[in-house]
Amino acid sequence: MRKTVMEMPPFYVMEVLERAQELERQGRSIIHLEVGQPDFPTPNCIKKAAEKAIKEEKTHYTASVGLLELREAIAEYYLEKHGVSFSPNQVIVTNGSSPALMMIFSVLLETGDEVILSDPHYACYPNMVRFLDCTPVFVKGNESDGFRFNPEDIKERIGPKTRAIVINSPANPTGHLLDAQAMREIASLGPTVVSDEIYHGLVYEGKEHSILEYTDNAFVASGFSKQFAMTGWRLGYVIAPERYIRPLQKLMQNFFIAANTISQWAGIAAIREAGPDVRRMVEILNKRRKLIVERLRKIGFGVAVEPKGAFYVLANAKNFTDDSLKFAFELLEEAGVGATPGIDFGRNAEGYIRFSYANSIENISVGMDRLERYLASR
Ligand SMILES: Cc1ncc(COP(=O)(O)O)c(C=O)c1O
Repeated sequence: MRKTVMEMPPFYVMEVLERAQELERQGRSIIHLEVGQPDFPTPNCIKKAAEKAIKEEKTHYTASVGLLELREAIAEYYLEKHGVSFSPNQVIVTNGSSPALMMIFSVLLETGDEVILSDPHYACYPNMVRFLDCTPVFVKGNESDGFRFNPEDIKERIGPKTRAIVINSPANPTGHLLDAQAMREIASLGPTVVSDEIYHGLVYEGKEHSILEYTDNAFVASGFSKQFAMTGWRLGYVIAPERYIRPLQKLMQNFFIAANTISQWAGIAAIREAGPDVRRMVEILNKRRKLIVERLRKIGFGVAVEPKGAFYVLANAKNFTDDSLKFAFELLEEAGVGATPGIDFGRNAEGYIRFSYANSIENISVGMDRLERYLASR
């Protein structure tokens, strides 16, 4: 078996979730604050577009790069939202942002290249980089400034083998939002920037920026999972410099053929019609964000800086533990609350627990009551 696969660590959040489901089968009540997906139903306008696509027999392969109508809608969306202009031909539709990231790394990286990542970071980035026999290089963030991905610290880690810098704003697991100045500085450092924009649209304070506002030497990976509550539809995209389009198209043809046709038609409706639904979801998420931060602080977790986007809080649990994996399972077994161990997101996140607030106010309140009671009696 390929060595890089054998050595790949598991995604611990999934192991917490699987144990939680086992407990539920035994009749236990579990509050799920571990999973990274909106609890909202997919908006009706999106579901209707999918139904229409099925009725109209739009159920066969699309072009491997995706439906032109969807690629046009994505280009228009970026023009309207960020004032950046690119051709629909620079967009390749994928089965989610995960394949989008893997395709970007596959066309960009050569064996032995280095990729700069923040620590904490989304769990899968270093695993994808290592799978391609490349090396992740980590830049530690500090809790005191909300784990900001600092351009000066990135600069210090750039060397002859650095091929790319990965940014993710708003970020999983910290909820950090890079401001325009930081984005501009990162864009000017030299290496190609891979910008994971999957949490765009889910912002409560400040404004998210696209890397394309600052440089053309960049790839965007994004998708419909989070802001449109479409995790199961598996729809995402790459926006790439022109010269990479043909190689990306060949990867798409060989590995995936094309993205799901019905989801692509639904994606057009998401971009063109679901704005009011997204605004409503953001309002609700913001209320949950305020509640969970307040409750976590009262219980004794540290939240130095409030998250500005996405739907996670990376809470300092060092009052309770120095082993986040053991602690996450303890919270699950003893308090009936699912949470993600910080270690999933890098060594620098050990001692932290990620709570997702993509759950109802009622469930968050019950979850916090349970944690409060359990930790007080521990
Ligand atoms: C930062 C980040 N990028 C990418 C993904 C993958 O999303 P999807 O493949 O559903 O588009 C996730 C999912 O949690 C994520 O948090």
